[in-house]
Amino acid sequence: MTKWILAAGVLMTLNSAQATQDPEAVYNRVCVACHAGQLPSAPKRGDRAAWVPRLAQGMGTLVQHVTQGFKAMPPRGLCMDCSAEDYQAIIVLMSE
Ligand code: HEC
Repeated sequence: MTKWILAAGVLMTLNSAQATQDPEAVYNRVCVACHAGQLPSAPKRGDRAAWVPRLAQGMGTLVQHVTQGFKAMPPRGLCMDCSAEDYQAIIVLMSE
């Protein structure tokens, strides 16, 4: 019994340690619809100045905002199969 619980714990840790999807692909599939300049209020990819104040809120808050929706951004940023780790990887990609 204990062994199974430990094994499950290890698996969960492995799962949450990295993005499950290619951040570039997800960005191009979903986030690009709003984060490439179409919506003036959405911070653009690569627009460092737009991202710095957002990043200052902390990665946890940003991931939470994407997941729950934030102002004009719909919940999950319209990526229904993205994990928190995926969002984190995409945020890094967009803010670089
Ligand atoms: C339908 C349009 C739309 C889509 C699709 C979208 N976003 Fe957004 N996003 C926005 C808008 C608009 C804002 C700015 C909200 C504001 O501050 O007024 C925003 C803001 C953000 C922020 C900053 C939140 C904060 O707390 O400052 C992050 C991070 C973000 N988006 C990530 C993503 C990711 C990752 C995806 C793709 C999975 C995505 N967005 C898809 C419209 C969108």
